[in-house]
Amino acid sequence: MTERLRVENLYKVFSKSPEPALRMLKAGVKKTEVLAKTGIVVGLSDVSLSVPTGGIYMVMGLSGSGKSTLARCINRLNEPSAGRILLDGRDIVAAGEAELREIRRKRISMVFQHFALLPNRTVAENTEFGLKLQGVSPQVRRRRAEEVLSIVGLARWGNHYPHELSGGMRQRVGLARALATDADVLIMDEAFSALDPLIRTEMQDELLRLQRTLKKTILFITHDFQEALKLGTRIAIMADGELVREGTPQSIVLDPGSDYVAAFTREVDRSRLFDARSAMIPVAPVQLAGGLCLAETGDGAGLVLDDGGHVVGALDAAALRDLRDGIPFTDSGSGTLRKDFVTVRERDSLLDAARAHRAGRPMAVVDDEGRLIGTLAADSILAGIAAAPPQTAGGLHA
Ligand SMILES: Nc1ncnc2c1ncn2[C@@H]1O[C@H](COP(=O)(O)OP(=O)(O)OP(=O)(O)O)[C@@H](O)[C@H]1O
Ligand SMILES: [Mg+2]
Repeated sequence: MTERLRVENLYKVFSKSPEPALRMLKAGVKKTEVLAKTGIVVGLSDVSLSVPTGGIYMVMGLSGSGKSTLARCINRLNEPSAGRILLDGRDIVAAGEAELREIRRKRISMVFQHFALLPNRTVAENTEFGLKLQGVSPQVRRRRAEEVLSIVGLARWGNHYPHELSGGMRQRVGLARALATDADVLIMDEAFSALDPLIRTEMQDELLRLQRTLKKTILFITHDFQEALKLGTRIAIMADGELVREGTPQSIVLDPGSDYVAAFTREVDRSRLFDARSAMIPVAPVQLAGGLCLAETGDGAGLVLDDGGHVVGALDAAALRDLRDGIPFTDSGSGTLRKDFVTVRERDSLLDAARAHRAGRPMAVVDDEGRLIGTLAADSILAGIAAAPPQTAGGLHA
């Protein structure tokens, strides 16, 4: 993965004369002591992180830990006191007025917790607001607004007003507005926190679904560890303005590294982290004749897909060799295309995958639409389970 956004040794001190506080921080003095000795509030102290292109990067931590300050520094709603913020290698901190305006309009969009919709404007007008600021013509921006509203599931709501919408729908409008400008970086600060749990789960699923095709680079702020685990490609955990732990969801649960982080992980259902997707080998299908594709599995067999990516059958190693020698497979009667492959869904747990496994039968991992995204071999299922904490592995024998 390439890197879209990189934060290097970022400091934010809320003072007109930050130097004394900065010197203390750089000498290793902590936020509380700086406050006690100087009366200066520290927002961020020496934060460095790297956000991969197309990833959902979660920033997690208790209230007051500096999450929003970090988000606001990235588009310079907060002026950083020291450090660099590189967007595709260009330092945002060093950007002049004009470049900054351009970055805010076209490169980085923000979605806030409290929707921030204009109450006297329709949903469509709210959605196209950023484009209007860019000087996009009325017809073009209206078409774009309709497009993104339909992406977030609000196709027929353009002429309604925000007060006619539920909280979840308003948050979708906020998301649509961020998508409308086509910025490649989205910063979502507690974007789902004001929603009730059911709607919130729905929005999380929606974001994951959208992200599969949009592939934006998302910095997502949350104080909810479950949300961080569910959405995150990587997670950064903040405490008192410092980044105290960074890694994949799995690595953080398995090795929290401190009591502060461990306290978050304790509540989590660990087994959910070890799903079929986490152990699968992604497929790279090749085109066959007749609109079909072939995806080889790790163990010498193959899966045959239709043009929609759905598995129609399996070929064993011998049939696969025949195919390479130019002998086509047959799909009827005693044909070589076998139907006894096993299918699991990407979010099924590895324990369920282990139970579904049958010796000698290829295992297909499919997405919500039933399209093949990977294959699972017995040894990778077991390796995945072995990596899980004891109580999960114990469940296998239950
Ligand atoms: N404009 C400001 N002036 C002075 N101090 C500020 C300002 N904004 C934030 N702070 C301080 O910076 C620290 C971090 O605040 P921040 O809003 O980033 O926390 P947060 O992690 O987003 O918290 P929450 O989960 O409550 O949103 C806090 O100590 C806060 O008091
Ligand atoms: Mg905040």
